[in-house]
Amino acid sequence: MTVLAGCGSNKDKYDTVLENKKIVMATSADYPPFEFHKDIDGKDQIVGYDIMVAQEIAKDLGVELEIQDMKFDVVLESINKGNADMALAGIDRSPEREKAMLFSDIIYQAEVGVLVRAEDADKYKSIEDLKGKKVGVQSGSTFEEVLKQIPDAQADRLPKVNDLVLSLETNRVDAVLVEKPVAAAYASNNNKVTVSSIALKPIGDGYSVAIPKGSDKLKDAINKTIKRLKDEGKLDQFITEANALSDSQ
Ligand code: ARG
Repeated sequence: MTVLAGCGSNKDKYDTVLENKKIVMATSADYPPFEFHKDIDGKDQIVGYDIMVAQEIAKDLGVELEIQDMKFDVVLESINKGNADMALAGIDRSPEREKAMLFSDIIYQAEVGVLVRAEDADKYKSIEDLKGKKVGVQSGSTFEEVLKQIPDAQADRLPKVNDLVLSLETNRVDAVLVEKPVAAAYASNNNKVTVSSIALKPIGDGYSVAIPKGSDKLKDAINKTIKRLKDEGKLDQFITEANALSDSQ
């Protein structure tokens, strides 16, 4: 993947955010408990762990938070192009991605989760059991790489996690790779799928806030908020709250 960094204005996003009194966040709200749609008081809203963190970032900057929902591969593109001020979408920091964007300190460390059909739970117990099988992964995600740990697996790439789960239910794929908490959230809302015991190694060193290149001041401000949230034990509290929110869907 080649990406041109920092097109458009070369101003630090920190300055435009304060001028506009608004920070624009890109996300892909198909990833409970990190970001997902939920009907609250008859209104469709985007909620979850990343949203809670983003709200704190906006609060510390004294600005409003605007959430833009898009496909995951478009989230990464919008940061490359500088169309959004930041992105939180369960995005893993990785050396490859760091060529094109800035990353904050880590806000969450997730393991890989393998979703399979509930009836196949006993059939797929080790990586070898998935040899040569069709496996669904989200386009542009690190799972395109993680998949390579399964010998001869055939990748089925789709832009939306909801559609990956549907593919699994309808036998078009035999497994879907997402993060463990996400796999658990889908499984708890859908008894046709379950989280298998298969263990795969994650790519990247944890979830982080992605920021356009050239916005180091904004990155420093975001890291300050993250440090505060860690010191206050808020990140642990948010994950508990977000899990509860997605369980009650
Ligand atoms: N953690 C993986 C990555 O960074 C997948 C993230 C998918 N996020 C989402 N909101 N659908 O590539």
